[in-house]
Amino acid sequence: MNKTIISPSILSADFANLEREINAIEEAGAAWVHIDVMDGHFVPNITIGVPVVKSLRKVTKLILDTHLMIENPQDYIKPFAQAGSDIITFHYEACADRVGDVISLIKDCGKLAGISVKPKTDVREIIPFLDKVDLVLIMTVEPGFGGQEFMHECAMKIPVIKANAPDNLIIQVDGGINNITAKICTSLGANSLVAGSYVFGHQDYKQAIKNLY
Ligand code: DX5
Ligand code: ZN
Repeated sequence: MNKTIISPSILSADFANLEREINAIEEAGAAWVHIDVMDGHFVPNITIGVPVVKSLRKVTKLILDTHLMIENPQDYIKPFAQAGSDIITFHYEACADRVGDVISLIKDCGKLAGISVKPKTDVREIIPFLDKVDLVLIMTVEPGFGGQEFMHECAMKIPVIKANAPDNLIIQVDGGINNITAKICTSLGANSLVAGSYVFGHQDYKQAIKNLY
């Protein structure tokens, strides 16, 4: 049985045709869609905001896997929850002094809570929160852009999380995932893979997703 959850990142999709792109990945077998929210402060890029999530909610039943790469995530949990996000993942570095509060905010909205770490962050810092979240997102590139090269040393955080995690924790990896790096991550214990340029850069999305298993 195949338990890896593939979450194609629409950052590499055709933004003029998001509905069509999302329907295409659903037909290709994806159950989740990864939405990269960037604010130009936490990361040096600006992408998608609440109105886009709201519009996407109307056209898809896929799980909206929302990755907040923003400062002050606590101010945006409710708007994203109301817009229809199913999973809300925030960055530990953006709110290290109020992680518990941010997790509670997400839970109070009835959503799944994810915590993410950038490449240079010591993953042991988030161990105290593993029993409070549903998902840990390990970045294997510096957040901000699609199409970057996978940082192998970051993948070594996966077994550290796995060794300390409750059984049902989703361990997700994001950045530079392709047919080769996907297997490195799943063999180390990841059970969810985000892939942007690999899926959307492929002629055949179904084949691309298949290649990640
Ligand atoms: C990067 C984003 C990723 C990005 C991945 O900051 O968080 O989700 O879309 O893109 P690829 O798969 O092309 O590395
Ligand atoms: Zn992402």
